[in-house]
Amino acid sequence: MTHLLHIDSSARSEGSASRRLSAEYTKAWKARNPHGTVTYRDLSIDTPDFVSPEWITGVFGPAEAANADTQAALDASELLIREIEAADVLVLGVPMYNFGVPAIFKAWIDQVVMGGRTFAFGENGPEGLIKGKKAIILRASGSDFDNPDFAPMDFHAPYIRGVLGWIGITDVEFIAVNGFTPEQIDAAIRDAGNTIAASAASATLAA
Ligand SMILES: Cc1cc2nc3c(=O)[nH]c(=O)nc-3n(C[C@H](O)[C@H](O)[C@H](O)COP(=O)(O)O)c2cc1C
Repeated sequence: MTHLLHIDSSARSEGSASRRLSAEYTKAWKARNPHGTVTYRDLSIDTPDFVSPEWITGVFGPAEAANADTQAALDASELLIREIEAADVLVLGVPMYNFGVPAIFKAWIDQVVMGGRTFAFGENGPEGLIKGKKAIILRASGSDFDNPDFAPMDFHAPYIRGVLGWIGITDVEFIAVNGFTPEQIDAAIRDAGNTIAASAASATLAA
C-alpha cells in the first residue's frame, strides 16, 4: 500500500501558505490514491530536539559512554527516520525564513541525517541509504526567488535538495508560492492548483 508522510513547519497555524499548499497536495494525492495512508507530523507542535551531547555520543561514540540518555536520543531520531522509511511520498510544507529553512525543520533534518543509518561512506564515496522516495516541497516566501535580484539569496531550495539527496532522496520537486498580501498569496495558491494536481497524480503512479 502506498504511504505519504506529510510534514508542516510553519510557525503559524492560521494563515500559513505552506500549510495550505501541503494540505491541498495531500488531499489531491488521497483523492488519486484512496487506499493510501498518511502520517502527519506538525513540527511546530512535535518539535524535534536539537542535536545534544547525548545524541552526538550515541551516534559517534565512544561505545562505552552509551547510557540510557544516549539511547533515548537515538530512539527519538529512529522514530523520525522510520517515518521516512515507511513513506513512498514525502510532502513537506517549508516556508522560507531568512533565506533558509525554519529552525524546527532544520532540527528535523539534524535528527534524520545520521551516518551509518541514513547515509554511509562506501567504497564509491558517500551514499544515501534512503532509496525510492519522492519528496515534494511546498514552499512559501515573501519575495519571488525566480527574480534574479533575489535568486542568489535562495539558500532554501539548494539546501533542501542537497541534504535530502545526501540521504538518498534525489527525486525532489518544489512547488513555490510567494507574496506579501493575503490577496497575492490567495492568487499564487490558486495558480499552483494545476501543478499540485498534476504532481499528486504522478506521485501516485510513481509510488
Ligand atoms: C521569521 C521570518 C523570516 C522570513 N524570511 C523571509 C525571507 O528571507 N525571504 C522571504 O522572501 N520571505 C521571508 N519571510 C516571509 C515568509 O516566507 C512568508 O510569509 C511565508 O508565507 C511564510 O510561510 P507560511 O505562510 O507557511 O507561514 C519570513 C517570514 C518570517 C516569519
